[in-house]
Amino acid sequence: MSNIGSYGERLNDFDWSLSEQELDYNKGDVINIGWYCTDRNCEQGLAEKTAFIWENAAGDERTYTFDDMRVLTNTIASYLKELGLEPGDRICLFLDRVPELYLSFLGILKMGGIAQPLFSAFGDESLHQRLGPAGTSAIFTQRKHVAKIRKIRDSLPDLKHIIVVDGDPEKLREREVIFDLDSTPRVEEFDVHPSTAETPSVLHYTSGTTGQPKGALHVHYSLISQYLSARWVLDLQPDDIYWCNADPGWVTGTSYGIIGPWANGITQAVLDSGFQTERWYKFIEKHRITVWYSAPTAIRLLMREGLDTVSKFDLSSLRHLCSVGEPLNAEAVHWSMEAYGLAFHDTYWQTETGSMVITNYPGMPIKAGSMGKPFPGIEATILDPDTFEPLNETGSVGVIGLKPGWPSMFRTYWNNQEVYDSKFINGWYVCGDRASIDADGYYWFQGRDDDTINTGGHLVGPFEIESALLEHDSVAESAAIGKPDEVNMEVVKAFVALKPGFEAGPDLELEIMNFVRKRLSPLAMPQEIEFVDSLPKTRSGKIMRRLLRAQEWGEPIGDISSLEND
Ligand code: PRX
Repeated sequence: MSNIGSYGERLNDFDWSLSEQELDYNKGDVINIGWYCTDRNCEQGLAEKTAFIWENAAGDERTYTFDDMRVLTNTIASYLKELGLEPGDRICLFLDRVPELYLSFLGILKMGGIAQPLFSAFGDESLHQRLGPAGTSAIFTQRKHVAKIRKIRDSLPDLKHIIVVDGDPEKLREREVIFDLDSTPRVEEFDVHPSTAETPSVLHYTSGTTGQPKGALHVHYSLISQYLSARWVLDLQPDDIYWCNADPGWVTGTSYGIIGPWANGITQAVLDSGFQTERWYKFIEKHRITVWYSAPTAIRLLMREGLDTVSKFDLSSLRHLCSVGEPLNAEAVHWSMEAYGLAFHDTYWQTETGSMVITNYPGMPIKAGSMGKPFPGIEATILDPDTFEPLNETGSVGVIGLKPGWPSMFRTYWNNQEVYDSKFINGWYVCGDRASIDADGYYWFQGRDDDTINTGGHLVGPFEIESALLEHDSVAESAAIGKPDEVNMEVVKAFVALKPGFEAGPDLELEIMNFVRKRLSPLAMPQEIEFVDSLPKTRSGKIMRRLLRAQEWGEPIGDISSLEND
């Protein structure tokens, strides 16, 4: 029997207090996610249970019990306090998926800091755009990533501590310290910061269609949503071995790669290695993974390898599969039934929502290609894109609107209340995605309602790419869009008009691609650059990405009455 039981019954009279009760939380109590994921499990008799199985590409393995987690997160929290860091300080995690990433995330929360995870493949400019505006005080990193921080630290006056978890004492520079978790004396008892519901917890930067990335700020009360959705949608049960593919640099990797599973006292396995089909299957086989949270791009890559590869491994431990980040095409659902005897359950949500909002539940019939139905306690609708009034019409396509008020909703964009406010119209939080609802209440994703590019489940902002392109000596103007891709759904394509004196050609194309990769990230790097004489613009001078995108996707061009040179 699944945890959720009957979806229909769960909807009736649903109240978030149900989750609060399960977590023994009463309004006004102290609530600290770091404590819930570690100490509470020990108090519940799980001290000796394996909490965390970690493995890297080389096959090195480590395991931690919940009591190990409790003590190690105490040790980190106490170290941060000794450094002089204070509750409310933004403390960045710029690490590969090493154990210190997971433990420091919880340690930061335990001392009242705001954890700011950033994807370790980010280049110096992406990093700068997120550390500067956040006024980040400290950053955890590894030797291999420290050069990127050194490049920008002079323009980051707030960044007082660069904490290198595998640092070389001979090579330390200004503001750098070494924190070697293995050799740091253990701290058995730590006074966990008495955070309450609205105390800030996590700051996740996310890319939008305009401007630089925005920091979605979450609070400790988000636990109420993350705990229950992990329990009901991922269906986590006491004996499960759970694997989430997502990197904690993105919200899936924190909400469901740290908080949700550990608040449920579940054993979690982490593989610190890139995608490789056989490696992944071996990992499932070796650790007897039961619940797997993955993403469409990974599933499409697995599909490409075919059923023969599947049959080489014993994947019989798997019992429940979920997916997130991009549309999960019907074909992928059918294939997973053939390959694993199980359907991937699509889940839809965002950095801003903090937890799943529309999903397929265990036990509910799956309509392959649909995102499923709203989570109990989430009031969702489809809004008319012009009036932002609910459409209330079966099959009509509009933008997804959510009634604000669920526990894990973001509370603001860091120092950007104006943009935060602009996301709420007629009392709805407007997600920026288009969808429709069928006669049975299932939601069907149609596409983004803006220019944000979704590559392999990661959002990339065209403005960030265009700004980076403009920094290259040769570029006069540019536009970045998503172009169709079989595996990643979209990849970045850039249109570039050159300054006089520069010659278009493959060498320059490669040079510009690498320029963006280094500054931003491999995800943001254009896979193709088309050199053009000029870009289509509105009369007010705004580049019409919409037009370029429609051409690229072979879609109708739509209204071009505002085009500059029509
Ligand atoms: O466009 C939607 C897409 O990813 C966006 C959110 O991205 P991010 O904030 O980075 O969070 C990703 C992981 C929660 C959404 O606005 N998206 C997410 N899940 C789905 C999806 N698109 C289609 N189907 C999904 N299941």
